[in-house]
Amino acid sequence: MRKNLGVQPALFPMPVVIVAAYGADGSICAMNAAWAQICAMDKIALFIDADHKTTKNIMETRAFTVNIADVSNMAPADFFGIATGNKMPDKFERSGCHAVKSAFVNAPVITEFPVALECEFAEEIETKHMHAIVGRIVNVSAEERVIGDKNKILPEEVNALIFDQYRSGYFAVGEKVGQAWNAGKDLMKG
Ligand SMILES: Cc1cc2nc3c(=O)[nH]c(=O)nc-3n(C[C@H](O)[C@H](O)[C@H](O)COP(=O)(O)O)c2cc1C
Repeated sequence: MRKNLGVQPALFPMPVVIVAAYGADGSICAMNAAWAQICAMDKIALFIDADHKTTKNIMETRAFTVNIADVSNMAPADFFGIATGNKMPDKFERSGCHAVKSAFVNAPVITEFPVALECEFAEEIETKHMHAIVGRIVNVSAEERVIGDKNKILPEEVNALIFDQYRSGYFAVGEKVGQAWNAGKDLMKG
């Protein structure tokens, strides 16, 4: 038996990423975003409100980073989603995190988080139903400890957080259970 549960943003899993950008004055703001998705091989779309301080920073400096939040940094990651730089000018400093300027774009890489997608602003899309900021991924940087053979990032080392919109939970990634483009190939036969 199935139950109908009505209208809700019921996708699971959702990522937990920390979007970070400098303002025109060089200050850093960062926010938590779960509604983010790769939309081309070199592009990422962020579905973030225009009035967030981080969004305003992105529009000022035309660059941002997308930092993958990991389990060990859950507290600052959540803080980035509770506090707003619109009311707390020292939000980034209060998080206890640190940042260095990306070597590729004018945006801060948060050093506590293991992987960063370094992006230049590509497009803002405002329609009746959504507001998206699209970034062109110019570089990805990662802590050496999460990089394996052939420079592939190791998800088991990243230990990324997953967001559960059903009950506002944070989950950890489980174990690898299969290989994509392979697990279904027997069904291609016949
Ligand atoms: C788990 C989590 C996920 C969130 N995802 C989004 C999101 O996808 N889009 C969005 O606009 N806000 C999202 N938020 C809310 C912003 O992070 C929050 O409003 C934050 O205060 C904005 O910070 P800023 O104004 O300093 O940029 C999320 C918050 C949390 C805790």
